[in-house]
Amino acid sequence: MKIAVLKESRENENRVALDPASCKKLIQAGVEISMEAGAGARAFFPDDEYLKAGVSILSDVTTLLGDADFLLKVNAPGPRPDGSHEADLMKPGSLVLASIFPTRNLIAVKKMAERKLTAFSTDCIPRTTRAQAMDTLSSQANIVGYKGVLLGAVELPSYFPMFMTAAGTTLSAKVFVIGAGVAGLQAIATAKRLGASVTATDVRPEVKEQIESVGGKYIGIELQQNAQAGGGYAAELSPEDKARQAKMLADHCAQVDVVITTALIGGVFAPKLLDEAIVRSMKPGSVIVDLGADGGGNCTLSRIGGTLEVDGVKIIAPTNLPSSLPHHASMMFARNLMNFMLAFWKQDEKRFDLDWNDDILKACAVTHDGQVLHGPTVKALQTIKP
Ligand code: NAI
Repeated sequence: MKIAVLKESRENENRVALDPASCKKLIQAGVEISMEAGAGARAFFPDDEYLKAGVSILSDVTTLLGDADFLLKVNAPGPRPDGSHEADLMKPGSLVLASIFPTRNLIAVKKMAERKLTAFSTDCIPRTTRAQAMDTLSSQANIVGYKGVLLGAVELPSYFPMFMTAAGTTLSAKVFVIGAGVAGLQAIATAKRLGASVTATDVRPEVKEQIESVGGKYIGIELQQNAQAGGGYAAELSPEDKARQAKMLADHCAQVDVVITTALIGGVFAPKLLDEAIVRSMKPGSVIVDLGADGGGNCTLSRIGGTLEVDGVKIIAPTNLPSSLPHHASMMFARNLMNFMLAFWKQDEKRFDLDWNDDILKACAVTHDGQVLHGPTVKALQTIKP
């Protein structure tokens, strides 16, 4: 079986789907890997290291994709600089594994279905113990939480830690983390390591202990309706609970120096939690880091992918943060893809086993044999014009 790895075509994407260490393990298992020249360069994995691992390096993408049985990517297949589409360059019946975010990338999904590709999306992998090692949402969210706090610390006009010096004493910064999933818990831990005093909130009741275990103080409201949607995901709050949460957020945001938002519904869509009134009630010099930016943003004022200032409050809404830490982000992403591949790899027959009875495979299959299989994506496709 031949795996292809490309230089990511998405703008500002520095990650690569496989690092040399994962290539080595996959090659030892019996696959062949070909890679576009320079694909790992922006993640600081030079071609030399791939060559040493046994990878073939090619410059001609048409040949690379035309020969491949399985394409591994970070993002959904997309347009090439020459105007061709990566999906169209693949053989019908071949496989794709990437973080496709199918509901956000409907054109790519349509292309893959039309080309009769079998595509799996790592962001749709179920949250089970067995699937944990393949879960790119978690490995990349960890980076988002870490890097988000660093960005906030850089923008804050004050120290994070408390200092007692001959020139006086500074108090530690107050950081408030909204949403304590994978990104949020890492944000709490990172802010604590930098010496901040950290509070955090979430709508899933079990997170209180998790917040405390990484050094944060939980604050929350008693919800009248359960906000758990199953699989670790949160559901949208009822209008009454939303109003009560908004009041709590308004009171607390006015007292802190940095607000880090990480809230997502269904792992995809960012609920609007901070409105203009909350922003204007915050102290001048304080900072909001909207880590829900990829899902549309948790703050109504956020300029997605940019920064703006309102009454002295800086709002940063960075997109694709994992790409800003491309070396480790790629290493972890690659490990996730490798674990997925090896879970379905039939060593004796040297083939990938399309076991449609497997819960992981079924859940993350987006297209197969000309059909779109992922329910929410089928729905989303019905809403766009042909
Ligand atoms: P996520 O990315 O879906 O959402 C981020 C956080 O925002 C969640 O904690 C969610 O409860 C919270 N949130 C949503 N609406 C909110 C609101 N209105 N106000 C405040 N917070 C709000 O979540 P993530 O990071 O994927 O993790 C969710 C849970 O799933 C965690 O407990 C995590 O450990 C678990 N998980 C398990 C996996 C596995 O077992 N394979 C893999 C990934 C996550």
